[in-house]
Amino acid sequence: PSAPVTVTVTGAAGQIGYALLFRIASGAMLGAGVPVRLRLLEIPAATKAAEGTVMELMDGAFPLVAGLDVFDDPAKAFDGANIGLLVGARPRGPGMERADLLSANGGIFSVQGQAINDGAAADFRAVVVGNPANTNALIAASHAPDVPASRFTAMTRLDHSRAVAQLAAKTGAGVGGVRRLAIWGNHSASQYPDITHATVDGVPATDLVGQAWIADEFIPRVAQRGAEVIAARGASSAASAANAAVEHMRLWVQGTPEGDWTSMAVPSDGSYGVPEGLVSSFPVTTAGGEYTIVQGLEVDGFSRARIDASVAELAGESDAVAGLGLI
Ligand code: NAI
Repeated sequence: PSAPVTVTVTGAAGQIGYALLFRIASGAMLGAGVPVRLRLLEIPAATKAAEGTVMELMDGAFPLVAGLDVFDDPAKAFDGANIGLLVGARPRGPGMERADLLSANGGIFSVQGQAINDGAAADFRAVVVGNPANTNALIAASHAPDVPASRFTAMTRLDHSRAVAQLAAKTGAGVGGVRRLAIWGNHSASQYPDITHATVDGVPATDLVGQAWIADEFIPRVAQRGAEVIAARGASSAASAANAAVEHMRLWVQGTPEGDWTSMAVPSDGSYGVPEGLVSSFPVTTAGGEYTIVQGLEVDGFSRARIDASVAELAGESDAVAGLGLI
C-alpha cells in the first residue's frame, strides 16, 4: 500500500467543504489505493462545525482515511501537507468594494502562502477554489517564495465541466464524447469557454453548432451558470464545485487521458501572449504529476479578443493587489 498523502482543506465547514471531504475520503481524488490524512482548516468560529463534519467522516468508516484533524491555525494545518485545497475565502458582503474584497482575501491567502512556505511538504501543490480564485492563487504563491509558483493553481474545472455538459446537451452526445474543450482567462464572467478545437464523438464541434449559438447562448450560459444555479437552488454551486476540485486534483496527480485536455488556471509562462506570472486558465495536459500548457493551438480573431479581455481583467486584479502591497 502507498504512504498516506496529507491533504489540507480550508473552509472545511463550508458548503463546498462538506461535499468535498467525503469524496476525498472515498478515494475519488487520489485513487482507491491511497490513504489520506485530512487536515481541516477553519476560522475559530467554525471549528465546532468542522468537528461535526469530522464526526460524520468517522461515521463513514472510510478505509482510506488515515487521519482527521481540525485546526484554526494555518501553520499547523499546512504542516507536512502534500496537497492543499484552498476553498475558504471571504465572500463579498453588502456594500463591499472590489478593493475591500481583494484586501480581505489578500489577508487570508498571504498568511496561508506563508504557512505553506514554512511547513508544507516538498512536493506540495494547491488548487485555489475560493474567489477571486486566480488572484488568490497569485497572492498565496507570492508569499511562498521557496515553493515553485507553478504549484499554485486556481480552479476553472467547474467552468470546463459546465461547458462540456452544455455542448453534450446541445449535440445530443454523451459527455464522454466531448474532448479538447478549453477555458481561458479568469474564473469570472469574463472567462472564455472555447470550442474551436473541441470534438464531439470525433467530429469538430464547430461543424455541429453555429457561431450564433456559441456567441449568444453557449458562452453566456457557461459564464452565468453559477447565477443560474443560485436562482434555482437558493444557494451557490457546492457539490458541482467540490466535484470539479476533485477532478482538478485527480487529473493533475493521475494524468489526463490520451487525446484530451483539462482546463486549469496556472501561472502563465507567456504562452498565447498571456503576461508571464498571471494565473490564467489554459488548456493543459498532465502526466507524471506535472501539467503542460497545450502549445501550438491556432487562436482565431474571435478567440483572441475574448482571451485578451479576460486576461486584461486579471492584469487589473494583479495591479490592484500589487497596489495594496499583497504581492
Ligand atoms: P461557504 O461560505 O459555505 O464556506 C466558506 C468557508 O470558509 C466558511 O466555513 C468559512 O468559515 C471558511 N473560511 C473563511 N475564511 C477562512 C480562513 N481564513 N481560513 C479557513 N477557512 C475560512 O462558501 P462555499 O460555498 O463553500 O464557497 C467557498 C468559496 O468557493 C467561495 O469563495 C466561492 O466563491 C468559491 N467558489 C469557487 C468556484 C470556482 O469555480 N472556482 C465555484 C464555486 C464557489
